[in-house]
Amino acid sequence: MNNSKRKTVIAGNWKMNMTPNEGVAFVNELKSLVKDKNNCEIVICVPDVDIPTVSEALKGSNIKLGAQNAHWELKGAFTGETSVNMLKEYNVGYVIIGHSERRQFFGEINNSVNMRLKTIIESGLKAIVCVGELITERELGITTEIVSLQTKVALHDITAEQMKNVIIAYEPVWAIGTGKTATADEADRVNGIIRNVISDLYGENTAESTTIQYGGSMNAANAVELLSKVNVDGGLIGGASLKALDFTAIVDAAQ
Ligand code: 13P
Repeated sequence: MNNSKRKTVIAGNWKMNMTPNEGVAFVNELKSLVKDKNNCEIVICVPDVDIPTVSEALKGSNIKLGAQNAHWELKGAFTGETSVNMLKEYNVGYVIIGHSERRQFFGEINNSVNMRLKTIIESGLKAIVCVGELITERELGITTEIVSLQTKVALHDITAEQMKNVIIAYEPVWAIGTGKTATADEADRVNGIIRNVISDLYGENTAESTTIQYGGSMNAANAVELLSKVNVDGGLIGGASLKALDFTAIVDAAQ
């Protein structure tokens, strides 16, 4: 990470874990563990149904609240979806979009990620845009092409000014929930490729000030090495974000 140029963001993605009550109990523990840690932004992205109780529990803390998806329209006949205005009423500040699980199981495509991103940014929220290659794509030697394509389409029509509210998370799909982390050098290399794409689109300044996280089996043991890399500006953490001590250790690694 390069703290002089960009903000380090450690974000937990609970995925479909924790009921509203479990979420509150967890947050009450986490709040006191991280209360003095101010060198990075700390975010937890929770299931929609947890948002009201967790939002209340987070009041007055240094932990920001995130959602795991948001629709591109502000309202209407979109069964099962959530609008940005619904999220904003509960002080949600961040929204993950384009997660590989959304792409794999729910038909998310690069164009719909771009549509969601525009609405999220226009509504004043920050977005965490996930990109990453499948194992078959890595084996074919097309990781650069895949992450570049995903990044370019997601950012279509997003301005340099709006990029201030965009975080990219490089999450190689083969590393998610598998215990197989990309090596720190490889995470740094691919994050650097994404930074080059941003540089081509917006110029060097925007590229250097954009936070690019790594995600995929990040844990208390490997976070220090991953976060020591110049292009790794934080983490998007699944499994280890469900354990308050492990998540705190990753926050510590970013200090
Ligand atoms: P794991 O940390 O469980 O591999 O999940 C990563 C992830 O998908 C975060 O969005």
